[in-house]
Amino acid sequence: MTLLKVENLSVGYKSKKGMVHAVRNVSFSIEPGRSLGFVGESGCGKTTIGMALMGLLPENASILQGDIFFNGNNLANFEDEEWRKIRGKEITMIFQAAMNALNPVIRVDEQIAEVIEIHHPQMAKTDVYDQVKKIFNLVEIPENRLRDFPHQYSGGMKQRAIIAMALACSPKLVIADEPTTALDVIVQDQILKEIKKIQKKLNTSLIFISHDIAVVADVCKDICVMYGGQIVEKGKREEVFKSPRHPYTRALLGSYLSLDSDKDIKVPRIREAPDLITMTKGCAFEGNCQCKSQKCKDQTPGWVNLSSSHQALCFEDILNKDTND
Ligand SMILES: Nc1ncnc2c1ncn2[C@@H]1O[C@H](COP(=O)(O)OP(=O)(O)OP(=O)(O)O)[C@@H](O)[C@H]1O
Ligand SMILES: [Mg+2]
Repeated sequence: MTLLKVENLSVGYKSKKGMVHAVRNVSFSIEPGRSLGFVGESGCGKTTIGMALMGLLPENASILQGDIFFNGNNLANFEDEEWRKIRGKEITMIFQAAMNALNPVIRVDEQIAEVIEIHHPQMAKTDVYDQVKKIFNLVEIPENRLRDFPHQYSGGMKQRAIIAMALACSPKLVIADEPTTALDVIVQDQILKEIKKIQKKLNTSLIFISHDIAVVADVCKDICVMYGGQIVEKGKREEVFKSPRHPYTRALLGSYLSLDSDKDIKVPRIREAPDLITMTKGCAFEGNCQCKSQKCKDQTPGWVNLSSSHQALCFEDILNKDTND
């Protein structure tokens, strides 16, 4: 059974200039044990989706439309009391820039134990600590470092502790928002390997958010590419990474491939961010698109099926244009 099914979700932030349409008409689903990656440039709405799935949108934000079915319940209608039962237990999030979120004056093992105790108040202390040890083992923090304070940890160890905290109650869904961005490349690589290993071992569903398409393709079996609050292309890793079709995905991958290729790949420059307040008709990527035609300004693109699992939000003839022509 599908674990999470998000349908036509739109989220807006009230601001002085007007409503910021940060997430627009987004639909996706995730099966138990699968990994789904969200990739796109800064401000495209990735974190907003994560926060909506955790029921942690800030005061000025609201779900404008859509449904979030998790295990059959619609989270879009959840009240605080219902959220408290699943947040941190069934759905957890590794927050963007979370490394300094550990409490500096509490030992790391106590912080993890606290998470378990909140959700399992009846559990005996010894069982809680057995679970803490198990989780530390899983994220490969040596047992003799359990009683340390956070400042005694390296950046990579802090991030492992944050991951441990997210896994403490064996959640069904983990949302990891840029979990390795603050780390150097070697530690980043280790942590990514760890995340993949743990996800497989625990059979947890994973939503992995990153601005780096190579990282997303490394970790996830399914990929959603976002631009201007919308998903513009989605499909299996092989489809999106090896045969990108939306002009934005091709631009994103072009900049990645041009780094280590002898071929002269023409990388379209993305100059302007889309205006998320004044919602004009047409395609949000039109201002930057190398393949655009007049209709991209006048008409709103719809989903084009490229295979049973691969889709792009564009016009069929535009998708078939070659950017390197
Ligand atoms: N509290 C807020 N009030 C108003 N606008 C906001 C707020 N939080 C986010 N936004 C706007 O919503 C849009 C989406 O932001 P979001 O943080 O979801 O993007 P992101 O894809 O996670 O970006 P990044 O890669 O930089 O983390 C942006 O235009 C951002 O400026
Ligand atoms: Mg973000």
